[in-house]
Amino acid sequence: MGFFFQLIMVVWSCFAALFLSITCHLPVVLGDTYGEDAAALIALKNDLQNTPASWEKYDPCGAPWDGITCNNGRVVTLTLASMNLKGTVASDIGSLTQLQFLDLSNNPGISGQIPQNIGNLLNLTRLMLLTCSFTGPIPLTIGNLAQLVYLDLNSNKLTGNIPASLGRLSNLYWLDISNNTLTGTLPVSKGNSPGLDNLLKAKHFHFNKNKLSGSIPVELFSSSMVLIHILFDDNQFTGQIPSTVCLVKSLEVLRLDRNSLNGSVPSNLNNLTGIIELNLAGNKLTGTLPNLTGVTTLNYLDLSNNSFDPSPIPSWLTTMQSLTTLVMEGGVLQGPIPRSLFSLPSLEILKLKNNRINGTLSLDNDTNRQLLLVDFESNQISSVTVGLVTSYTLILYGNPICVSDLANTRYCQLPTQVSDSYSTNLTSCGNITCPQGQKLSPQSCECSYPFEGLLIFRAPAFQDISNSSRFTGLEYQLWTNLSLAPHSVYLSNLYFDVNDYLVAPVDFFPSNGIYLNQSEILRISSYLTNQSFKPPSGFGPYYFVSLPYIQQGASQAKSFSSSAIIGIVVGCSVLVILLFLLGFYALKYRKRAKEAALNPFETWTRVHSKGHGDAPQVKGVRWFSFNDAKKYTNNFFEGNEIGAGGYGKVYKGTLPSGQIVAIKRAQKGSTQGAHEFKTEIELLSRVHHKNLVSLLGFCFDQGEQILIYEFISNGTLGESLSGRTGIWLDWKRRVKIALDSARGLAYLHELADPPIIHRDVKSTNILLDEDLNAKVADFGLSKLIDDEGTGHVSTQVKGTLGYLDPEYYMTQQLTYKSDVYSFGVVMLELVTAKPPIQRGRYVVREVKAAIDKTKEFYGLEEILDPTIRGETSLVSLQKFVGLALQCTEELASKRPSMNEVVKEIEAILQNEQFNERRSASASTNLGIPVQGIHQPYDEQISGKGFSSDEFKYSGAYAFTSHVEPK
Ligand SMILES: *[C@@H]1O[C@H](CO)[C@@H](O)[C@H](O)[C@H]1NC(C)=O
Ligand SMILES: *[C@@H]1O[C@H](CO)[C@@H](O)[C@H](O)[C@H]1NC(C)=O
Ligand SMILES: *[C@@H]1O[C@H](CO)[C@@H](O)[C@H](O)[C@H]1NC(C)=O
Repeated sequence: MGFFFQLIMVVWSCFAALFLSITCHLPVVLGDTYGEDAAALIALKNDLQNTPASWEKYDPCGAPWDGITCNNGRVVTLTLASMNLKGTVASDIGSLTQLQFLDLSNNPGISGQIPQNIGNLLNLTRLMLLTCSFTGPIPLTIGNLAQLVYLDLNSNKLTGNIPASLGRLSNLYWLDISNNTLTGTLPVSKGNSPGLDNLLKAKHFHFNKNKLSGSIPVELFSSSMVLIHILFDDNQFTGQIPSTVCLVKSLEVLRLDRNSLNGSVPSNLNNLTGIIELNLAGNKLTGTLPNLTGVTTLNYLDLSNNSFDPSPIPSWLTTMQSLTTLVMEGGVLQGPIPRSLFSLPSLEILKLKNNRINGTLSLDNDTNRQLLLVDFESNQISSVTVGLVTSYTLILYGNPICVSDLANTRYCQLPTQVSDSYSTNLTSCGNITCPQGQKLSPQSCECSYPFEGLLIFRAPAFQDISNSSRFTGLEYQLWTNLSLAPHSVYLSNLYFDVNDYLVAPVDFFPSNGIYLNQSEILRISSYLTNQSFKPPSGFGPYYFVSLPYIQQGASQAKSFSSSAIIGIVVGCSVLVILLFLLGFYALKYRKRAKEAALNPFETWTRVHSKGHGDAPQVKGVRWFSFNDAKKYTNNFFEGNEIGAGGYGKVYKGTLPSGQIVAIKRAQKGSTQGAHEFKTEIELLSRVHHKNLVSLLGFCFDQGEQILIYEFISNGTLGESLSGRTGIWLDWKRRVKIALDSARGLAYLHELADPPIIHRDVKSTNILLDEDLNAKVADFGLSKLIDDEGTGHVSTQVKGTLGYLDPEYYMTQQLTYKSDVYSFGVVMLELVTAKPPIQRGRYVVREVKAAIDKTKEFYGLEEILDPTIRGETSLVSLQKFVGLALQCTEELASKRPSMNEVVKEIEAILQNEQFNERRSASASTNLGIPVQGIHQPYDEQISGKGFSSDEFKYSGAYAFTSHVEPK
């Protein structure tokens, strides 16, 4: 049976997929997301334009939304890199307390401040907000994020100081605040106040391109640090280079260039035995040139434009075996050129312009083959040895030799282009011109819309951008690391910017079709922004800036391509054939299965026919055949449908006796096993309470599972509160409804045998009878309390968005207190007449935030249902809301039991009645003007009601619905 059934389901879902793909994406209502998280996401969405199309679906975790991943209904990652988002980041983001990974990078349309509430995200390990347009200061609260490993605020418009609180981020590995307008000094710890010197796990200090000032504190560095990159370039630092920086043995890149540092260079620089790049250019350093003997790892050295004492070209330079780039421009060097300089085995670029180098230039024609550029512009070289034949660019412009021996040679002209710049080779594609906006893919030689961006390397260990093997290596690394098709990455016209950053324009091409879909953009962009991509060695630290991707790509992603549809059709056909092949077997199997399935009820039917026996559990619950059920509902006539939900549909039916009933028919696929069904019936048959909807009968026949309940005429509480039933509930009635439902639940918890946790308490599961007494309905999700008496059931989280107990979410352990939480939400609904989640606002949080006991009206003017304002006594409202908040405490242990809730509400109701007897005295009633009292739920109010545009108010279903006017 199981197998056969599964097969049918596979075929069915196969065709359903086909249908959906051809038509459109229907909204799916699935309550998989924790209420506060859902509310926060909706608030975020409301403040941002261009969120992915999938964000129109109802359930962020269940749908799921692009860029979101969840764990047990809690949002753990939120990545929307390069989505062309515009707007601001709502402070509600602080509610996503399980968030570990937040990436909004590369959305230059995001402006406004980084919300302070970001400091509530205590589980955050990566906070990536680079290349947006955030303004204002770095929130101090970021210092609370003790788990943070990556903090990247690079390339925004942030102002103010670096908060000292960042020093509390003891797990921080990556701190990038570069390219902002930050001012002030670098904070170091002092007494109890933290500082950046506390960041003992940090490997990256990227503070470049700001307006930071003051001296670089000596206390900032110590031998306990593990920094590899210190990028302080392009700031306004003054004072000396602290010698303590040489204690950081792990250092690979030290960029202090483009500041106003003075004094002499610390003599212990050659303690930095692993350093690859040292850039001290553009400061006011004095004294002798540093002696870098022994720093054999150095690839890139720039000491240009300082005020060092005049010096011959230091002899230690000629021992630097790894040096690829040597830059010493601006007046310090004098005297002759050591011949061995050109023999450095790795040297590619030698830039020594504007010095006083004199004498004879002796070049051997067999100097190293790497050499690309030798720039002696504006020196005093007066002669060359042998005839010059260089394979590299040699610049002698501005030397005496250019007015004598070498006049009019190419060496005495300034080259227009120093060296060729790399671009991916497209020659094999021939001459193809692409339509506007498209580019030629090196992978397919076809035109498509690539995802374009810039990879910016801030400390490459080379300056040669013509050597293709280096950049084909980068391309290879990109497409393999990103799992893209080979050669689908295109680099073009690389260049060095004014900061000596290597800028590599990069295009990522779709491997088929002409667009990349949104999730692919997200994936590529996040991979690059969150530093998962590791470039080949020598490129150094980078960041990624993307261009907005054309939106057609996103809409393309929504509909299936015709080839996908063909694929589905073929797939479905194959399945159908399979089905026929298995038909024989399946039919036989089904016959047996049917017998087996009916088995659990055999004893019951026997008992019923004999009128006595061993099944007292089902006393009072009748067995109906499927044909009976058909008859009662007029063959499940559509017009008799009174509710629908995940479980199936509910029909109004009439028994031969004339009694009206609600008939709940499980849809195929949500039926339970026969034993479970039997258990449920046994359970429900024992539950009798005036505030619980009673079960009258059941049907387990022809593969159908049907429950037959008493019919409750006035629909659900949710409908009445929304104004859809036309029944107005005054304040006293609402308190009474709360009491009724609380009593029903207390019975389930404490008197039912075995006790029952409802699991789905919500206003659409509370029904109102003809006298507006409340009855709790829907035990479809009920679970028995286990016999061991531990008081909880560990089970997969189920329930409805907005009502779910946060602790249940965390622990997955269902307790009575989970119902208490949901009931507290219903109580707040009674006060506000709004669904728990509306327009991104979660009622529990709203009320908690609004409540102010010192205020005359308890601070609830905004939230209170206006139709009950004039008649609510302040005392009872305070007590009622206070109780609701107790019920919705985060910690289950702080919530009252259902029995205690009953007692409290009884007291509130008595108080209300007492007040009533004293008649409407002005002192106890609220002096708030009444809006439309006894003319409730006018257009305006019902419009604000339950049919919110963001969240369709979805009761799983209701037994009764729509107006049964009396
Ligand atoms: C540089 O330092 C080395 C040893 O550290 C020493 O042998 C050498 O003489 C020094 N060179 C100069 C120019 O001071
Ligand atoms: C080169 O410059 C140095 C120092 O400025 C000077 O002492 C020397 O005489 C010069 N040599 C030649 C050949 O001009
Ligand atoms: C390019 O660079 C690589 C190292 O990255 C080197 O092995 C190769 O010889 C260089 N090629 C040229 C033409 O300079």
